[in-house]
Amino acid sequence: MNALGYSHHRLVKVIRRESANAVHLSNLFHNPYQGPLAAKLAKWSGLDRVFFSNSGSEAMEGALKLARIYARKHATGGLPPRTRFLALENSFHGRTFGALSITSTAKYREPFEPLVPSVEFVRFNDVEDLEAKFEPNAEGGVCALVIEPVQGEGGIYPVSEEFWQSARDLTQAHQAALIADEIQSGLGRTGRRFAYQKFKARPDIVTVAKPLAGGLPLGAIIASEEFASAIAPGLHGSTFGGGPMICAVALEFLTLMEEEKLIENVRARGAELRAGLEKLAAKFDFVREVRGEGLMLGMELNVDGAPYVETALRNGLIINCTHEHTLRLLPPFIIRVQEVKEFLGKFEAVLAKTPKPKAKPAQHAAHAQAEPLSLAVAR
Ligand SMILES: Cc1ncc(COP(=O)(O)O)c(C=O)c1O
Repeated sequence: MNALGYSHHRLVKVIRRESANAVHLSNLFHNPYQGPLAAKLAKWSGLDRVFFSNSGSEAMEGALKLARIYARKHATGGLPPRTRFLALENSFHGRTFGALSITSTAKYREPFEPLVPSVEFVRFNDVEDLEAKFEPNAEGGVCALVIEPVQGEGGIYPVSEEFWQSARDLTQAHQAALIADEIQSGLGRTGRRFAYQKFKARPDIVTVAKPLAGGLPLGAIIASEEFASAIAPGLHGSTFGGGPMICAVALEFLTLMEEEKLIENVRARGAELRAGLEKLAAKFDFVREVRGEGLMLGMELNVDGAPYVETALRNGLIINCTHEHTLRLLPPFIIRVQEVKEFLGKFEAVLAKTPKPKAKPAQHAAHAQAEPLSLAVAR
């Protein structure tokens, strides 16, 4: 995900410099960037230890394994280890088998079934359902609850404070891991380092990827000492994850975020963009709602979004549409005041001149099978 747009001069400089050194080292050897990058991610998240992967899905796989090994080590009273995973309806966690198994959308799952067993989906923001799902059943107890603090692919739905706190209380009471999937919402996107930081309670494990290395493939699992210490060398690993060049780029990205106060920019530009979108929502009767935080915004239409995507592309706006009727806006963190204005002007024209498609019935988040739409200003 191009959080710094493309060809950012500081990332280009690091890539040039590091490409003349060893771009890959066996993970049996130390490299100078992995430690400082891990330390920064630990500081940003308030957690303790980091494992690097090659993608978001792969980070999810490792997080699920970490929860299972922790439960195995903490099995008590002669009971079998807790092995069930809970995730939310309308979730998206990736395409590999473990990550897909905790992704609720039927069209992604069904062609590949049977998936990893012992997964159940909790109704979105429904505390009663969450409590019920934590009760041990024939498959045993819960070892992890996985939550996107703001559902991304699901159409930009933020989790409520009450639900998050209940998730924290229940996971603690059951010695289960609370895993925050911040692959889309993390590292500044919502105007905070992590979206969960608007809540009081911290998760045990956090996964990140998309913007981490400025568009190069890098993911990470960030965990508390309590959970991280449950796993031993040799139980998980990756050939390419955390190589010197990619870690140098990610370190530069996070340093630049701090030095250039990009989170403040995300908040300020996000507020301007949101205000502009709200105005458009009031003007066009086919816009149902504007949702989201920072520069992670969704505009839900009561008509098919695809024709708007096509018109936008023809008018210099890069838009990608999934979920049929929720337009998702994920502009780069470096977007400027003038570019927000330019986008809003062009986007208004797109909404006005696209022939209005046939109306679609509104869907509740928990039942939406639609795919959202990403949008950025083309320079
Ligand atoms: C919330 C979330 N989790 C996991 C993933 C999977 O990440 P990747 O595509 O890097 O495997 C994505 C990708 O869109 C995502 O948005």
